[in-house]
This record gives sequence, structure tokens and C-alpha cells, in this order.
Amino acid sequence: MEKPIGVIDSGVGGLTVALELMRQLPREKLIYLGDTKRCPYGPRTKEEVQQFTWEMVDFLLEKEIKLLVIACNTATAYTIDDLKEKLDIPVIGVINPGARAAIKATINQEIGIIGTEGTVKSGAYPDALKQINPELHVQALACPLFVPLVEKGVFTGEEARMVVESTLEPLVEDNDMDTLILGCTHYPLLKPLIKKVVGDQVAVISSSEETARETSAVLEIKQLQNKSGLQQVHEIYSTGDMEIFNRIATKIFQNAIHQQFTIKRAVIEKE
Ligand code: DGL
Repeated sequence: MEKPIGVIDSGVGGLTVALELMRQLPREKLIYLGDTKRCPYGPRTKEEVQQFTWEMVDFLLEKEIKLLVIACNTATAYTIDDLKEKLDIPVIGVINPGARAAIKATINQEIGIIGTEGTVKSGAYPDALKQINPELHVQALACPLFVPLVEKGVFTGEEARMVVESTLEPLVEDNDMDTLILGCTHYPLLKPLIKKVVGDQVAVISSSEETARETSAVLEIKQLQNKSGLQQVHEIYSTGDMEIFNRIATKIFQNAIHQQFTIKRAVIEKE
């Protein structure tokens, strides 16, 4: 089916998931929407996140998407059940894939999770992990300073190193975790720094690969794959400052030069 796949996030972070979708599903066209104007979602109330997410979804439904990927942990935690119930297209979040990837990686059953305040408060990761294995020991930490850093395009350097080091200190002290879930799609952009702080003995997991794998499986089961084999031109939209968004998107896609995309501004707020 030639219709596009819709991908949403509060900002640029979901582009890490979009990139993996492009890699694993090169025949599919993506329409990505980042609500950069209202980012971060992490400190917002559940009601606000639900309203903003529905506004993003309505924008993409008008573009006739055949499947929705919620490339945002906060939005997944607060809206996935509602979206699955109300939409008649398949909906894929990032939390269950992230949990599955961590369970695959851990040996000592000690798992750490870092995410936004909203994701950590929701308890969605411990729930997803313990549903698969109730014996796991799970510790979660909110990192509210990470998303503003990434949205500014600051992934490296002294400022980023100091923020990452001081934020992760309570998680790293006295902790036997052998696996750490990056429970926010913005965090893979800080992965080299995070890895340095937690050490080589800890496997650092982002959910993008597993999310793309699940998307691929669902497309096959529902017979929704694009069989046309055309080179796709992905559409990328942002609700906020286009200059910063363009700069960060270009940086994220710098190793995906074979992909073609357009970047435009979107207005999605309802009166
Ligand atoms: N990238 C998002 C997440 O995975 C949201 C970050 C935010 O807006 O606070 O949670």
C-alpha cells in the first residue's frame, strides 16, 4: 500500500526513530511531525500531553497515513491505549519495544531507565518490563535537563558533559545495573556522553531498532507494505523554530544521504 507511515514526537528526538525506520523500511514513505513549539512534553500534565498528541495525530490523519508510530516515550506512556482504541490504523509506541530490547540485553536482571518526568511518573517502563519478567529489578531516574539540551542542538562539549554527569550521578552510584534504557527518544543524541558516564559494563539501549522491527512486522502481518519500490521523498514537519529544527535534522540525517526529504512548518493547534 503506497500510503505513508506517520511518525510523531514532541520535537527532534523522534527523528532517531524515523532514521531507523528509513533504514529498515527503505520502500516506505514517512511523514514526521515534531511539536517543537510546545516541547518539552515531559513536565506537562497528562491531559496536556493527550490533547497535543491528538492534535498531531489529526494532522497526520488528514495526510492519510496507514500506520502511526508514536516516537515519543511521554506521549506513548499517556496516550497509546486511547489511540489504539480510537484509531482504525495500527499504532506502535516506543515503550514495549524498548522494554523488550532491554530484557534481551540484561544478564543480571538489573535494569536502569532514564526518561522525562512524565514517562518516569507514569511507571510505564517498569510495568512493561515486569509484565514480561516480574523478577527484574528496575530503577528509574527522570532527567529533565536532557531534552532542552538536545532541542538546542547541544549533543557534545563541556555544557552537555556536565549536565549528563551530574544528572546521572544518583543512578550510577551503588548500582549494579548492566542495562540502561534510554526511555526518551531525544537521549540517543547524547548516547556517547551517557555511555562514558555509566561505563562499558552497561549496555545502553534505545528503542528505535526494535520499534522499526515491530513496524516492519505489523506492515507484513496487515499486508500494508509498499510494494511499488519507488525512491521515497519523506515529509518532515515542525511546529516551531525552523532554523534550529533544520540544523538538527540535517545533523541527524547526515549519515543517511541516500534519503530524500522536505522540511516544512506545520500549524496544528486547535482553537
Ligand atoms: N522525545 C520525547 C520522549 O521520548 C519527549 C521529550 C519531551 O518532550 O519532554 O519522551
